[in-house]
Amino acid sequence: MNNYIVFLFVIAMCSRLSEALVPENCPINRIMITNQLGGGKVLGYKCSNWLRREWQGSLRTFNQNKSWEFTDVIKIRKRSRYECDLWFGARKEFHFDELQIYRAASRRRCNIIRQWAARPDGIWFRKDHDKPLGHVLPWKKR
Ligand SMILES: *[C@@H]1O[C@H](CO)[C@@H](O)[C@H](O)[C@H]1NC(C)=O
Repeated sequence: MNNYIVFLFVIAMCSRLSEALVPENCPINRIMITNQLGGGKVLGYKCSNWLRREWQGSLRTFNQNKSWEFTDVIKIRKRSRYECDLWFGARKEFHFDELQIYRAASRRRCNIIRQWAARPDGIWFRKDHDKPLGHVLPWKKR
C-alpha cells in the first residue's frame, strides 16, 4: 500500500515536471463583441489591449461581430486584458466607457470563447457558445 502511494506521488511529480518543461497545448482564446441592437442601429467601438494596440470601428448590421484571438499572458504586471468603449445613438448617448471585456486570471486559460452582445437594454455576456447570453449592465446615458 505504501509503495503504491509513493508510486502515485512519483507519477504526480513527473507529470508536474513535464508540464513545466514541455510547452503545453493551449489553443488560442477568442473574445467577441456583437451588435444585437436591432432596428438598423450601429454599434460603435474603440477597444484596446494590454499591449496598447487599438481598434476602432463600427458594427453596422445585426449580429455583426468583431473578434480577437490571443493566447493568455499571465505575468503579474502584464496580464492579457481587453477593454472597450461602446456606444450607439445619434449623439452616442448610450455608452460604456472602458468596459473590461477580458482579463487573464492567475492561471492561464486556453480555448475559451467570450461573447459580449450589445442589445437595446444593455450589454449581455456569455462564456461559451453553448450557454445562453445573460444581461450584465444597462447602458449609461448622457
Ligand atoms: C457572429 O458570431 C456568432 C457566434 O460565433 C455567429 O453565430 C454569427 O453568425 C456571427 N455573425 C456573422 C454576421 O457572421
